[in-house]
Amino acid sequence: MRPVRKVLIVGGSGFVGTAVAARLARDGVALVVPTRRRERVRHLLTLPTVDVVEADVFDPAALAQLMDGVDAVVSLVGVLHSRPGSPWGPDFGRAHVELPTRLVAAARRAGVGRIVHVSALGADPAGPSEYQRSKAAGEAAIRAAGPEVEWTILRPSVIFGPGDRFLNLFAGLLQRFPLLPLGGAGARFQPVFVGDVAEVIAAALVRPDAAGQVVEMAGPTVYTLRQLVDYVGTLSAHPRPVIGLPEGLAMLQAAVLECLPGPLMSRDNVRSMRVDNVASGAPQPWGRQPTALESVAPGWLGRANRRARFAAWLLRRE
Ligand SMILES: NC(=O)c1ccc[n+]([C@@H]2O[C@H](COP(=O)([O-])OP(=O)(O)OC[C@H]3O[C@@H](n4cnc5c(N)ncnc54)[C@H](OP(=O)(O)O)[C@@H]3O)[C@@H](O)[C@H]2O)c1
Repeated sequence: MRPVRKVLIVGGSGFVGTAVAARLARDGVALVVPTRRRERVRHLLTLPTVDVVEADVFDPAALAQLMDGVDAVVSLVGVLHSRPGSPWGPDFGRAHVELPTRLVAAARRAGVGRIVHVSALGADPAGPSEYQRSKAAGEAAIRAAGPEVEWTILRPSVIFGPGDRFLNLFAGLLQRFPLLPLGGAGARFQPVFVGDVAEVIAAALVRPDAAGQVVEMAGPTVYTLRQLVDYVGTLSAHPRPVIGLPEGLAMLQAAVLECLPGPLMSRDNVRSMRVDNVASGAPQPWGRQPTALESVAPGWLGRANRRARFAAWLLRRE
């Protein structure tokens, strides 16, 4: 195990970053978390070892300062939506390709010898969506780091946990609407718990055998999107009919949603669901046992334990 005393978490203010910061702070690791807006990161300020810094991580001078004295970098910046483009739109390009390229260059200059980069299951230069293609290009930028910077790439399926934008999004929609027209209802996912992702990132920072590895991160069970939405509905006491949309209609729905601020769904998201989001082998590296959705989701989505147990039973039957 290599000693890791100070870590820069780029994108550390977000959903996964918060779990990673909490996990590393527990070990007493000093953390630097840059953000574009400090007021949105109040939740991290209570962690004893965290230094929240307002900074532009695309600025080489700012990056050099952020990397000063750190042993490793965790790279977590990612976006779900972008203005369109080919092979990917400019916002995907900036967050998924340009930033990892800059992180690697800055790490080399600063002599930071370790980077753990979070990509996504389905990253593929020939994938059907701009998201997947840009994530693959980001991975290529990390792999090109050269011998001075040891890298590990994580490829998670969709991540769940308190505060996620997946199950909680559906819980909100089911609460508001009497039925749910759903694109990609038959798409398959293998959701992974955010706590597992944080554990694997913490392990990847110190395990010598993590260097040069691309590791998939998934949960123990494969579900269709419809099964997941039904589960959330039962758990949150708002079961609703789910109407699966064929891709043409799903694209139309997404085109309308794209006009709203902070869109719920985009046509690129619909395209990404043409490919199953499922691990190719063991769901997690290094013999780890993944956390089951049903064992933790009732903690933040459940209204009543009885209902949660019923929902879990329904899922197991299918
Ligand atoms: N959540 C999932 O289900 C899931 C699944 C697979 C892969 N991933 C990947 O896991 C990583 C973390 O995801 P997450 O769910 O934690 O995302 P998140 O909650 O949206 O957080 C992303 C972070 O990136 C920063 N950020 C976003 N756009 C930026 C930009 N243009 N410039 C600088 N900073 C920017 C934000 O920081 P500030 O706003 O504070 O500056 C935020 O803290 C991402 O790479 C994502 O693609 C997530």
